[in-house]
Amino acid sequence: MAVVLAMPAIFGSCDDAPRDVQPSDVQRLVQAADRIRIELGDEYDTPITPGTSSQLVRGARLYSQLCAGCHGSGGKGDGWTANKLTIPPGDLTDPIRAAILSDQGQLHVLRKGIEGTPMIGWEGVLGEADLRCVLHYVRSLVATEPDE
Ligand code: HEC
Repeated sequence: MAVVLAMPAIFGSCDDAPRDVQPSDVQRLVQAADRIRIELGDEYDTPITPGTSSQLVRGARLYSQLCAGCHGSGGKGDGWTANKLTIPPGDLTDPIRAAILSDQGQLHVLRKGIEGTPMIGWEGVLGEADLRCVLHYVRSLVATEPDE
């Protein structure tokens, strides 16, 4: 084990190819959440009441038109363009990931995108009501713990 761990140190000098090391996507999302928290101030923690069923239906339609190409139809990050992106979309169904941003934080991401990533802002495309429908739908994709 010790030998295996030492290998990169031994061979490191032979490998001078530039590496594009990205911080883990969870880390990047945590950093984005920190920036958004500062930008929004108190508003960051203001909860958003759960969507109505008609908002969810509309959100699902908008999601499949605008978001599924990258995020995948079920939100797993496996859309048809996902593997062409420099930064892959994360899994929107992952409860740990979903807990990183507050409701307002996630709405802010939908409006403005995440700087430096392929996630663009949608405020020029979707009005406020539609942004909320999509937010509710995205929230509904999060896997819940199985009942005990
Ligand atoms: C061009 C591909 C692309 C499209 C289209 C796109 N996204 Fe994203 N999205 C991304 C990527 C890549 C990230 C991850 C950025 C990161 O890891 O920092 C992301 C991040 C997010 C996040 C932050 C939470 C998380 O787990 O990463 C949310 C929420 C989100 N997208 C929702 C949407 C919604 C809703 C739409 C449609 C209105 C959409 N995205 C359209 C690529 C895309």
